[in-house]
Amino acid sequence: MCGIVGYAGRADAKSVLLEGLGDLEYRGYDSAGIAVLEQGNIKSFKAVGKLVNLVEQTQAYQSQHLSFGIGHTRWATHGKPTVANAHPHAGETSQVIHNGIIENYLELKNDLIAKGIGFSSQTDSEVIVKLFEYFLNESKEQSWQTVQHAFMKTIAKLKGAYAILLISQSLPDRILFAKYASPLVIGKGSGENFIASADIALAGKAEKVIYVKDYQMGYVSEKDIVMFDEHSEDIHLEFKTLYADKLKAMKDGFRFFMEKEIYEQSEVAKAVILDRLKDDKVYFQELADFDFSRFKSVRLCACGTSYHAALVIVYLLERLAKIKAKAEIASEFNYRQPLLEKDELFIAISQSGETADTLEAVKLAKAKGLFVLSICNVNHSSLAQLSDALILARAGVEKGVASTKAFTAQVLVLWLFTLYIRQNTLDNELLSQEIKAIQLVSQALYIDASLHQKIHRLSKRYLHGHGFFFIGRDIFYALALEAALKLKEITYLHAEGYACGEMKHGPIALADPELFTIALLSKNILFDKTKSNIEELSARDATLCIVGTQMLELADDYLPIKSYDHPMLEFFARHRARIFAVLV
Ligand code: M6R
Repeated sequence: MCGIVGYAGRADAKSVLLEGLGDLEYRGYDSAGIAVLEQGNIKSFKAVGKLVNLVEQTQAYQSQHLSFGIGHTRWATHGKPTVANAHPHAGETSQVIHNGIIENYLELKNDLIAKGIGFSSQTDSEVIVKLFEYFLNESKEQSWQTVQHAFMKTIAKLKGAYAILLISQSLPDRILFAKYASPLVIGKGSGENFIASADIALAGKAEKVIYVKDYQMGYVSEKDIVMFDEHSEDIHLEFKTLYADKLKAMKDGFRFFMEKEIYEQSEVAKAVILDRLKDDKVYFQELADFDFSRFKSVRLCACGTSYHAALVIVYLLERLAKIKAKAEIASEFNYRQPLLEKDELFIAISQSGETADTLEAVKLAKAKGLFVLSICNVNHSSLAQLSDALILARAGVEKGVASTKAFTAQVLVLWLFTLYIRQNTLDNELLSQEIKAIQLVSQALYIDASLHQKIHRLSKRYLHGHGFFFIGRDIFYALALEAALKLKEITYLHAEGYACGEMKHGPIALADPELFTIALLSKNILFDKTKSNIEELSARDATLCIVGTQMLELADDYLPIKSYDHPMLEFFARHRARIFAVLV
């Protein structure tokens, strides 16, 4: 999740921008940069790594007059974390920063290259400034109208998600902005204005803010904020009051980071699939140089929640892609002297990319000559550097210790990957059905207020007792393990995840009214079998809560989940219900 800040005013723009970027640091980044337009000239600075590197680079610089600054922290999606790929991206006379993903950037870039325009980065974002200058150069005279026209034409060409700030020598008294599907907030000061990708960076600076909506664009100057839509119709400014408390602002009104991150999952799902689905095909630009058809089997290796994501994917790899698959706990794998085959693909999964056992497992696999693909949320992590290929999970920083949105991103990325490796041999109808389902994941993860309230009420009833069983079958078994891990980790209550069919082989002996059983009942996968397992537990007087699409007579509680015909959508809709753990 990249960060954006902008400043128009007479204070030292550099300091304002660096402070704002510091406020956004918690979102994670691997490079940073600023550009300041002052008296018609632009100064720009970029650095890889921590913000302190940028601070060092800019030490000798300070703006003296009215100036217009833009700053960015980049979390790489297209291209490595290098200075060239860091924002701002420069044209001849303009500079741009961008959050989001421009899906059609290659098409636009190739058009511009054909017209003789050069590029210096691997990013999707650079295309914005090059396109803007191309349109600007179409007209000879340069007035606000021609600049506005060039900007609007540029925005109209973009497909994907964007929050954009642009400064230009042809417009020496303002910062242009545009937004679609990536957040942007404008803060009104007195004789100065601010812009940021999250209101935390404005807290304490501006009391009145405008949350820019999709398709809105405009400019900020020293005194004015002007907004218009894609038809150049003026937009009435709707100001909201901002809290001055930064920590509160970081939580966006939620009580805990984990709660906030649960809510973010729906957006994360959109980011994961953004440029990866087109014309009923799956694309992983980062894997274009590799041939995955040669692998006969897949071994997935990880710890904790990431291991649970691996367990889910074993079901999908074998059922959909028809590839032999196995999930391994990294700390077991490392010491059991595993027999490895060269034609197996080794997939390491890790949110942080720094988990010691997972790193050791990767070293072992590499030492045996295996190809290692990592699914990781941190671009510059040790895991990313050790691996032969990397898919970024795109979950953004997970501040809560308990993994939530990273799990969502891992499962979704690997579901896409399952289709990707065999899409040339998969039945077209099946592929198309899977892709349609993937497009609905974000919706399945959306949390409405009524679900939240229902879980809140329900959780109060489960505060006593001596433990929890989470039970499910198939992919819901993996989810049951993950739910139990989450409950233990967050509430310090005892919880176990079990495969439904295993209950009768011992654990059922524990069943009693004080042992709460949460049954993940799927409409699409083994409904009758799961139901009969629930009946067995009911006969032992266990207190039962069904998470599913229908209440069973013998159950005590029911958490309704929207009905989907695809098991993975049911999976994500149930995964949403992990908010339980936060509320208990
Ligand atoms: O960063 P990783 O995914 O490698 O971390 C592995 C586990 O420590 C992690 O998934 C842990 O189980 C979760 N944070 C629990 O919520």
